[in-house]
Amino acid sequence: MSTRGALRLGILISGRGSNMATIAQQCRAGRLGAEVALVISDQPAAAGLETARGLGLATRAIPWPGAARRSEFEREAAAALDAAGVELIVLAGFMRILSGPFVTARAGRILNIHPSLLPKFPGLHTHRRVLEAGERSHGATVHYVTPELDGGPRLLQSRIAVRAGESEESLSARVQATEHIIYPKVIGWRAEGRLQWREERPWLDGAPLLTPVVEEFDA
Ligand code: GRF
Repeated sequence: MSTRGALRLGILISGRGSNMATIAQQCRAGRLGAEVALVISDQPAAAGLETARGLGLATRAIPWPGAARRSEFEREAAAALDAAGVELIVLAGFMRILSGPFVTARAGRILNIHPSLLPKFPGLHTHRRVLEAGERSHGATVHYVTPELDGGPRLLQSRIAVRAGESEESLSARVQATEHIIYPKVIGWRAEGRLQWREERPWLDGAPLLTPVVEEFDA
């Protein structure tokens, strides 16, 4: 595996792939010290796969065989990621849950982005739930993946104010715009060696990162 060159990323998607595309474009522009070695989708028809091909990226569709046969998917994905020399796995709208053994074997080597200010609102339909709960602020979280769903150490969060009368669609679009800023940023930290995984936790700039960095948007 390359340690001197660009950090090799393997991006897992299930859908549109807008985070994947943003990360790939920033890699290509030389802004992150990273390169996309492979894009994998569990959905062969995912729009993001087409986008990735359009960007000239190596892609691989591994159809989801059902939760009961998750290990088959994981074996195939692991083989493809290893063959591509992937050093960091980036989950970007990947709508499947990876098994504890898969994740544990790659501790500190899998990132995810989740559309809420974790630990608030893990799981699905976050924007709707945020509106229903009358929250005043919302955002997205980049975190390391552990066997606990949406529960791994949080690294960077974007925070926005929820506007009066805001729709789920508007909130989703505003959060997603911030995702396209914070996800590449964390990958850049990792590629520069500022972000490390030591003693089973994240370190940023030489100190344990106990609480996530928070960036405010459109105050
Ligand atoms: C993002 O909102 C991300 O937070 C969530 O899934 C969505 C993926 O969007 N995990 P895209 O496929 O990157 O456009």
